[in-house]
Amino acid sequence: MNQQPLLEVNNLSTHFHTERGDVTAVNNVSFTINKGEIIGIVGESGCGKSVMSQSILRILEHTDPISYKGEVLFEGQDLLKQPLNKLQKIRGNDISIIFQDPLSSLNPVYTIGNQIIEVLRLHRKLSKKEAKRKAIELLQLTGIPSPKVRINNYPHELSGGMQQRAMIAIALACEPKLLIADEPTTALDVTIQAQILELIVEINQKLGMAVLFITHDLGVVSEICTSVKVMYLGEIVEETVTESLFETPLHPYTRGLIQSIPRLDANRNEKLHVIDGVVPSLTNVPKCCRFSTRCPYVTELCRTEEPPMIEANEKHKVKCFHYKEIQQKEGRTQ
Ligand SMILES: Nc1ncnc2c1ncn2[C@@H]1O[C@H](COP(=O)(O)OP(=O)(O)O)[C@@H](O)[C@H]1O
Ligand SMILES: [Mg+2]
Repeated sequence: MNQQPLLEVNNLSTHFHTERGDVTAVNNVSFTINKGEIIGIVGESGCGKSVMSQSILRILEHTDPISYKGEVLFEGQDLLKQPLNKLQKIRGNDISIIFQDPLSSLNPVYTIGNQIIEVLRLHRKLSKKEAKRKAIELLQLTGIPSPKVRINNYPHELSGGMQQRAMIAIALACEPKLLIADEPTTALDVTIQAQILELIVEINQKLGMAVLFITHDLGVVSEICTSVKVMYLGEIVEETVTESLFETPLHPYTRGLIQSIPRLDANRNEKLHVIDGVVPSLTNVPKCCRFSTRCPYVTELCRTEEPPMIEANEKHKVKCFHYKEIQQKEGRTQ
């Protein structure tokens, strides 16, 4: 019997209504996450990763005139149709989100202990004493040393890595079924980054929590994700299991991203590959293939028609007319 996916996003589009007109930051995105799965979303800055992930919980509508199309089914119920009070019960209870900048989510006037305890009392109805014990346990789980002392610290008293751990502790306080991690390690140095990734995998294994891991760094994806979606200009352009993405990337954009990963064994004089050009502005989206303005393999067809999402095989989909020829011509990237 097929299990119901934990999250099923169907044809999600997110439109901002700006003074200069409407822009579509997320266009027709579909994917599913099963219980306990770690899925990666990658793409350069400005490709719509954050808007897409925040659309799932409708976080942006507090500040921006916005509208959605499509469905975001969480355990079968459409979050886009829920009244806000119902959605608030899901946020932080069933789905938690962590951001790149921990200080934007931590409250500077409360100790980290109080912030975790508040979540536990509100969402899990624990007594003060139980909540404190659980808060210490969570800080310990996230690898914060001397949690009994640290619980009394204010955010500014912690290092960046510790703040990120504290934010993860808050996000985990309710044992969410899904953690959305939006570039949680981008602002950290590599050692701390590795520790936070390890922590996320450990918690995923211990609690069976699914993770939607968003990053611009393909290297990070290869370490923790079972499958990956590549986003470009608001759309998913390639999706497959992580191994295939690195072994046989099919979209020219993905090839470019992989070639841009710095390699330890690279010749010192070798220049790091960069993808030519920049992500076009949302007010100027090509009506054909969205990557056509930057693609080294572009043809007239790409400049006139939008490619469909093509099923290259059971586990691999790509939005490119020419993926077969490119693969035959260029072979593997590694
Ligand atoms: N409030 C907003 N109003 C209009 N456009 C926005 C707003 N927020 C984000 N965008 C646009 O949406 C696009 C995607 O942004 P974002 O999701 O933050 O990219 P990423 O997370 O992949 O770097 C960008 O072009 C950005 O300028
Ligand atoms: Mg972002």
